Amino acid sequence: MGRSHPVSHPVAEERPAVHGDALNGLRAAIADAPSPEAAAQRVVDLLHDRFAHYDWVGMYWVDGSDLVLGPWIGAEATEHTRIPIGTGVCGAAAASGRTEIVPDVDADPRYLACFATTRSEIVVPIFDGGEVIGEIDVDGSDLEAFDEMDAQFLEEVAALVAPLRPRP
Ligand code: SME
Repeated sequence: MGRSHPVSHPVAEERPAVHGDALNGLRAAIADAPSPEAAAQRVVDLLHDRFAHYDWVGMYWVDGSDLVLGPWIGAEATEHTRIPIGTGVCGAAAASGRTEIVPDVDADPRYLACFATTRSEIVVPIFDGGEVIGEIDVDGSDLEAFDEMDAQFLEEVAALVAPLRPRP
Protein backbone atom coordinates (compact mmCIF):
# COMPACT_ATOMS: atom_id res chain seq x y z
CA MET A 1 0.00 0.00 0.00
CA GLY A 2 1.35 3.43 -0.86
CA ARG A 3 0.93 6.45 1.30
CA SER A 4 -2.40 8.10 1.03
CA HIS A 5 -2.46 11.67 -0.24
CA PRO A 6 -5.45 13.56 1.02
CA VAL A 7 -7.07 15.52 -1.79
CA SER A 8 -8.20 18.94 -0.68
CA HIS A 9 -10.32 19.65 -3.77
CA PRO A 10 -12.16 17.32 -6.10
CA VAL A 11 -10.22 16.90 -9.33
CA ALA A 12 -13.17 18.14 -11.36
CA GLU A 13 -12.86 21.52 -9.68
CA GLU A 14 -9.16 21.93 -10.33
CA ARG A 15 -8.25 24.60 -12.80
CA PRO A 16 -5.21 26.75 -13.40
CA ALA A 17 -5.40 29.85 -11.23
CA VAL A 18 -4.72 31.92 -14.34
CA HIS A 19 -8.12 30.92 -15.71
CA GLY A 20 -9.95 32.08 -12.61
CA ASP A 21 -7.97 35.33 -12.62
CA ALA A 22 -8.69 35.88 -16.30
CA LEU A 23 -12.42 35.26 -15.82
CA ASN A 24 -12.46 37.87 -13.05
CA GLY A 25 -10.58 40.29 -15.31
CA LEU A 26 -13.00 39.61 -18.15
CA ARG A 27 -16.05 40.21 -15.95
CA ALA A 28 -14.59 43.53 -14.83
CA ALA A 29 -13.62 44.54 -18.37
CA ILE A 30 -17.10 43.74 -19.66
CA ALA A 31 -18.77 45.64 -16.81
CA ASP A 32 -16.59 48.72 -17.39
CA ALA A 33 -16.89 48.84 -21.19
CA PRO A 34 -18.95 51.66 -22.69
CA SER A 35 -20.73 49.42 -25.21
CA PRO A 36 -21.16 45.73 -26.09
CA GLU A 37 -18.81 46.20 -29.06
CA ALA A 38 -16.11 47.71 -26.82
CA ALA A 39 -16.65 44.92 -24.29
CA ALA A 40 -16.21 42.23 -26.95
CA GLN A 41 -12.99 43.89 -28.15
CA ARG A 42 -11.69 44.00 -24.57
CA VAL A 43 -12.39 40.30 -24.21
CA VAL A 44 -10.31 39.28 -27.23
CA ASP A 45 -7.56 41.73 -26.24
CA LEU A 46 -7.40 40.38 -22.69
CA LEU A 47 -7.33 36.75 -23.85
CA HIS A 48 -4.53 37.55 -26.29
CA ASP A 49 -2.54 39.50 -23.70
CA ARG A 50 -2.84 36.95 -20.89
CA PHE A 51 -2.19 33.72 -22.76
CA ALA A 52 1.03 33.52 -24.74
CA HIS A 53 -0.24 30.59 -26.82
CA TYR A 54 -3.34 32.55 -27.96
CA ASP A 55 -1.61 34.07 -30.99
CA TRP A 56 -4.72 35.25 -32.82
CA VAL A 57 -8.05 35.67 -31.04
CA GLY A 58 -11.28 36.53 -32.79
CA MET A 59 -15.01 36.43 -32.27
CA TYR A 60 -17.47 35.52 -34.99
CA TRP A 61 -21.22 36.18 -34.77
CA VAL A 62 -23.94 34.26 -36.59
CA ASP A 63 -25.67 36.27 -39.31
CA GLY A 64 -28.24 34.15 -41.09
CA SER A 65 -26.40 31.12 -42.47
CA ASP A 66 -22.95 32.73 -42.08
CA LEU A 67 -20.45 33.57 -39.39
CA VAL A 68 -19.30 37.19 -39.57
CA LEU A 69 -16.04 38.34 -38.01
CA GLY A 70 -16.39 40.65 -35.03
CA PRO A 71 -13.54 41.88 -32.84
CA TRP A 72 -10.15 40.28 -33.26
CA ILE A 73 -6.53 40.79 -32.27
CA GLY A 74 -3.37 39.33 -33.74
CA ALA A 75 -0.51 40.11 -36.06
CA GLU A 76 -2.59 39.94 -39.24
CA ALA A 77 -6.14 40.43 -40.44
CA THR A 78 -7.89 37.34 -41.79
CA GLU A 79 -9.46 37.21 -45.23
CA HIS A 80 -12.15 34.96 -43.75
CA THR A 81 -14.45 37.68 -42.50
CA ARG A 82 -17.60 35.77 -43.55
CA ILE A 83 -17.69 31.97 -43.27
CA PRO A 84 -20.72 29.87 -44.22
CA ILE A 85 -21.90 27.69 -41.33
CA GLY A 86 -20.67 24.19 -42.20
CA THR A 87 -17.46 25.45 -43.85
CA GLY A 88 -14.05 25.29 -42.20
CA VAL A 89 -13.34 24.46 -38.59
CA CYS A 90 -15.30 27.55 -37.58
CA GLY A 91 -18.31 26.51 -39.61
CA ALA A 92 -18.12 22.95 -38.24
CA ALA A 93 -18.23 24.15 -34.63
CA ALA A 94 -21.17 26.43 -35.42
CA ALA A 95 -23.05 23.62 -37.18
CA SER A 96 -22.51 21.03 -34.42
CA GLY A 97 -22.49 23.29 -31.38
CA ARG A 98 -19.37 21.49 -30.20
CA THR A 99 -15.96 22.87 -29.33
CA GLU A 100 -13.36 21.95 -31.95
CA ILE A 101 -9.74 21.40 -30.92
CA VAL A 102 -7.50 20.97 -33.97
CA PRO A 103 -4.03 19.83 -32.81
CA ASP A 104 -2.51 20.07 -36.31
CA VAL A 105 -4.30 22.26 -38.84
CA ASP A 106 -2.33 20.73 -41.71
CA ALA A 107 -3.87 17.35 -40.89
CA ASP A 108 -7.48 18.61 -40.85
CA PRO A 109 -9.08 18.81 -44.30
CA ARG A 110 -11.74 21.20 -42.99
CA TYR A 111 -9.20 23.86 -42.08
CA LEU A 112 -9.49 27.23 -43.83
CA ALA A 113 -6.01 28.72 -43.85
CA CYS A 114 -5.67 32.27 -42.57
CA PHE A 115 -2.10 32.69 -41.38
CA ALA A 116 1.10 30.94 -42.44
CA THR A 117 2.14 30.72 -38.78
CA THR A 118 -0.93 28.86 -37.53
CA ARG A 119 -0.30 25.24 -36.51
CA SER A 120 -3.28 24.53 -34.26
CA GLU A 121 -6.68 26.02 -33.51
CA ILE A 122 -9.56 25.94 -31.03
CA VAL A 123 -13.09 27.08 -31.82
CA VAL A 124 -15.69 27.40 -29.05
CA PRO A 125 -19.36 28.06 -29.80
CA ILE A 126 -21.24 30.87 -28.06
CA PHE A 127 -24.83 29.97 -27.14
CA ASP A 128 -28.00 31.85 -26.37
CA GLY A 129 -30.29 29.23 -24.92
CA GLY A 130 -29.69 26.19 -27.10
CA GLU A 131 -28.88 28.20 -30.20
CA VAL A 132 -25.35 28.89 -31.50
CA ILE A 133 -25.07 32.68 -31.91
CA GLY A 134 -21.33 32.98 -32.43
CA GLU A 135 -17.97 31.58 -31.50
CA ILE A 136 -14.52 32.30 -30.17
CA ASP A 137 -11.68 31.31 -32.52
CA VAL A 138 -8.09 31.07 -31.29
CA ASP A 139 -5.13 30.24 -33.51
CA GLY A 140 -1.82 28.98 -32.12
CA SER A 141 1.64 28.99 -33.64
CA ASP A 142 2.58 25.71 -31.97
CA LEU A 143 1.29 22.23 -32.71
CA GLU A 144 -1.14 20.98 -30.06
CA ALA A 145 -1.30 24.38 -28.42
CA PHE A 146 -4.78 23.78 -26.97
CA ASP A 147 -6.18 21.19 -24.59
CA GLU A 148 -9.31 20.41 -22.60
CA MET A 149 -8.44 23.07 -20.03
CA ASP A 150 -8.47 25.71 -22.77
CA ALA A 151 -11.81 24.32 -23.94
CA GLN A 152 -13.33 24.43 -20.47
CA PHE A 153 -12.02 27.96 -19.89
CA LEU A 154 -13.11 29.33 -23.27
CA GLU A 155 -16.56 27.75 -22.84
CA GLU A 156 -16.92 29.84 -19.67
CA VAL A 157 -15.71 32.90 -21.58
CA ALA A 158 -18.29 32.12 -24.29
CA ALA A 159 -21.06 32.22 -21.67
CA LEU A 160 -19.79 35.63 -20.49
CA VAL A 161 -19.77 37.13 -23.99
CA ALA A 162 -23.13 35.81 -25.23
CA PRO A 163 -24.93 39.02 -24.16
CA LEU A 164 -22.46 41.07 -26.26
CA ARG A 165 -23.82 39.87 -29.60
CA PRO A 166 -24.53 42.83 -31.86
CA ARG A 167 -28.20 43.49 -32.41
CA PRO A 168 -29.36 42.36 -35.85
N1 SME B 1 -9.23 28.60 -39.64
C1 SME B 1 -10.63 28.90 -39.56
C2 SME B 1 -10.95 30.16 -40.31
C3 SME B 1 -10.83 31.38 -39.48
S1 SME B 1 -9.20 31.93 -39.28
O1 SME B 1 -8.48 30.94 -38.46
C4 SME B 1 -9.22 33.35 -38.45
C5 SME B 1 -11.45 27.74 -40.11
O2 SME B 1 -10.88 26.75 -40.54
O3 SME B 1 -12.67 27.83 -40.08
